[in-house]
Amino acid sequence: MDIEPGELTVGQLADRSGVAISALHFYERQSLIVSRRTSGNQRRYKRDTLRRVALIRIAQRVGIPLAEVAAILALLPGNRTPTRQDWERISECWQAELDKRILHLEQLRNDFKGCVGCGCLSLDRCALANPYDVLAAQGPGPQRLVDSSGAPCHPGSCS
Ligand code: FES
Repeated sequence: MDIEPGELTVGQLADRSGVAISALHFYERQSLIVSRRTSGNQRRYKRDTLRRVALIRIAQRVGIPLAEVAAILALLPGNRTPTRQDWERISECWQAELDKRILHLEQLRNDFKGCVGCGCLSLDRCALANPYDVLAAQGPGPQRLVDSSGAPCHPGSCS
């Protein structure tokens, strides 16, 4: 078997990380992890790829988009695996993002409480049907039924 010391096959990486081989292939297509190819076109991963996969899984659990994870990993010089210090900075950044999401969800939950069992979907008083009354800022009248020039919208003419 063509394998260097400290390398893992894709099966070994899957076993050690608990991530399916298909998911590891997906991560690689997204440039989240890298491998070298053997003469037989088999993937070989450095052992520290396990740390990258752990970071990716944590990011997924807290809802960080993979594109954002890839962008952060791309900032690491030489495509290296995040160090403890890197992870400290990344996790602080993601905590701020999580705090914002939690606040947004709490606001949604509070707005939703008024809707439970209501069913009115009123644009005047339902905070979810017309959040923050954004249509009012566009002017008077049925804003969903006029185009940007204020002309009535006809079926097929509005984008
Ligand atoms: S559905 Fe009535 S207040 Fe939201």
